[in-house]
Amino acid sequence: MPQVYNAIRTADRIILASPVFFSGLSAQAKIMIDRCQAFWCEKYLLKKPIPEGKFGRKGLLLLVGGMEKEDGIKCSEATAKAFFRTINVPEHDTLSFLGVDAKAAILEHPTALKDAYIAGKRLINI
Ligand SMILES: Cc1cc2nc3c(=O)[nH]c(=O)nc-3n(C[C@H](O)[C@H](O)[C@H](O)COP(=O)(O)O)c2cc1C
Repeated sequence: MPQVYNAIRTADRIILASPVFFSGLSAQAKIMIDRCQAFWCEKYLLKKPIPEGKFGRKGLLLLVGGMEKEDGIKCSEATAKAFFRTINVPEHDTLSFLGVDAKAAILEHPTALKDAYIAGKRLINI
């Protein structure tokens, strides 16, 4: 976790990627987010938010769900929003794909790769 804390503290751009599991983020993503309560304490109790560097701080949320239900995206988005706010990332885009379940199925998606490319370009823009 110290390495993850350091990366979160010093990054200008942060991408959070997760499959949708049981209508939310995966446990692996969520357990990392929960450890970021330390940043919540810094920001809200000590009044020391992570400083924004000269390029600002921006995020991207990447989600893939096997079903066609929006719930998983909405629930994941709510958690990710709280995460980004806590680590002082004031703006983020969300890229989500539903109905992607089988191994490597994302490669068959008509727009995913192009969408990801555009999102990546938007992310690095200042
Ligand atoms: C434990 C588990 C729970 C899942 N729950 C959902 C769900 O609630 N909604 C959904 O759209 N897909 C759900 N899925 C399907 C995955 O989101 C889908 O298979 C996704 O492509 C997995 O990505 P990965 O291969 O990168 O892990 C679930 C899959 C697993 C294994």
